Amino acid sequence: MCGIVGYLGKRDAVEVVLDALKRLEYRGYDSAGIGVISNGKLKVVKTKGKIRDLATVVKEHDFKSNIAIGHTRWATHGKPTDVNAHPHVCEGIAVVHNGIIENYMELKEFLVNKGYSFESQTDTEVIAALIKDNYEGSLFEAVINACKNLVGSFAIAVICEMEPDVIVGYRKESPLVLGVGDSEYFLASDIPALLPYTNKIVPLEDGDCLLITREGFTISNNGDLVNRDIMTISWSPVLAEKTGYKHFMQKEIFEQPRAVADTIHGIYSFDENRFYLVESEFEERLKGVNRIVAVACGTSYHACLVGRYWLERYALLPVEVDIASEFRYRDIFIDDKTLAIFVSQSGETADTLAALKMSKKRGALTLAICNVMGSSIAREAHDVIYTHAGPEIGVASTKAFTTQMAVLYAFSLYLGSLKGHLNNKDVSSRFTELMKTPRLIEEALELDKKLLELALKYLDKKDFLYLGRYLSYPIALEGALKLKEISYIHAEGYPAGEMKHGPIALIDKEMPVVVVAPVDRVYEKVKGNIEEVKARDGIVIAFTSEGSEEISKKCDHTFYLPKTYEDLSPFVYVVPLQLFAYHVAERKGLDVDQPRNLAKAVTVE
Ligand code: G6P
Repeated sequence: MCGIVGYLGKRDAVEVVLDALKRLEYRGYDSAGIGVISNGKLKVVKTKGKIRDLATVVKEHDFKSNIAIGHTRWATHGKPTDVNAHPHVCEGIAVVHNGIIENYMELKEFLVNKGYSFESQTDTEVIAALIKDNYEGSLFEAVINACKNLVGSFAIAVICEMEPDVIVGYRKESPLVLGVGDSEYFLASDIPALLPYTNKIVPLEDGDCLLITREGFTISNNGDLVNRDIMTISWSPVLAEKTGYKHFMQKEIFEQPRAVADTIHGIYSFDENRFYLVESEFEERLKGVNRIVAVACGTSYHACLVGRYWLERYALLPVEVDIASEFRYRDIFIDDKTLAIFVSQSGETADTLAALKMSKKRGALTLAICNVMGSSIAREAHDVIYTHAGPEIGVASTKAFTTQMAVLYAFSLYLGSLKGHLNNKDVSSRFTELMKTPRLIEEALELDKKLLELALKYLDKKDFLYLGRYLSYPIALEGALKLKEISYIHAEGYPAGEMKHGPIALIDKEMPVVVVAPVDRVYEKVKGNIEEVKARDGIVIAFTSEGSEEISKKCDHTFYLPKTYEDLSPFVYVVPLQLFAYHVAERKGLDVDQPRNLAKAVTVE
């Protein structure tokens, strides 16, 4: 997805903006550009390709400037070319833009009739012309007026030659944050871009127009000046560095013990027998809830699928899980007794946000589980529980998944006790088991070398099947998703018991079948499924619990994982699947952190 940055202060703006853009590379992009005011003149450099290509061209210009905006583009309207890259300029006004302007064709026609001409195929160039058309001496006013005519979701940053010490930003349903430094200001679509410079962040809200000058900043919304709180983000810059790992994804897999421990730290008091998860007002409404829907996309959806088993088991409530892009268009029954949970690492996924707004409108009590403080989903929901994974940079989600599960597990225990289905002893003993998961994940990480060997053996395979049942079914889905996302190998996750109804036809001696088989209530059934695969000459790669050695006779490869309390096996079993996918992609020489066509946060529908 596209990334925006901006800087106004005393430093070399080109350096800051290029560095911040590099930190947004993980979002996925195909071209990049920068706009500066140098010696009173607006200068724009943009190019197809990577930030390093942009940096090479920018260097040749030797700009002297301490005000700049920059952009990484992920093509939506118009191919990835130099011309379509941002910033787009109209008579001294430069704009970078994330999102989509739905009515840009109409606006273009209107502007062409007024004599404006366009050179790109983008919707962004129309914004630049529209701001120019509204310009009467104040960029701030011009942006506010221009944005009144834009339909769609977007975030923009604008500079202009006429006001060389001003940056204006506008946000509508696409993330944009202000970073506040010491007599310097930053703008970014994503917090990690700013971490080396400041941890003081103001997330803009929908309809906010931000004016940054050398003296300070002002925010206006719908004609009124508004105050927005400055939040202090606890993420340290080191969390957004690779710190010796080859890839962010690898680092983030290994960070999971810390991430889970941080997430569950302080959320349950053994002395008081109580959880510190939600506000008291929210708790009051929660008492009346009689059903739950859990909604998300991608890996976060898989976390919801795992969470369903826990919520059903402990809270004894009907739970439905859906993918946000499906959910938002269903005529699903929702009322004020429905708890709707939205899980999102970024807190900005457009479909999840839309599903949340739809549920709220229909009266549901809404809860967000997010990793990014102040993100749209976190703000929109009635209450939010944060995961403390730290910034997740690798496009393929890993530590966000285990921390989301940790929150869902704790929340299930909390709801179970609130509903009177679990007593204090049940809760404290189960929470104690949850507290053991960081150590168990650490043990699972010790399989790393063996999984590299496995990856080397199978990296040329074209298809994989991942099987699991009960709590391991979503883990099979997640394992398959990891492999396909970063290694481009076709992989399908399936409920092992359903294999007979289709996928069994695919099995032959070429087909590796990964089986997630902890010793749990369905273990014997899964062993039966392994027999079925072997009977058709499939290659079985099994992950099972220490002590269940007998299974190895039936499998081509068996990996043993530490025993967990039955409900908590997903925390441990997902780890080797992440590592396997990582090693396959890495050994194939692929771009692990920025896989083709994928974006870290999908902020358009
Ligand atoms: C994209 C990312 C995935 C992520 C999904 C949902 O597809 O590449 O890693 O799981 O979005 O993102 P969210 O931020 O809502 O969890």
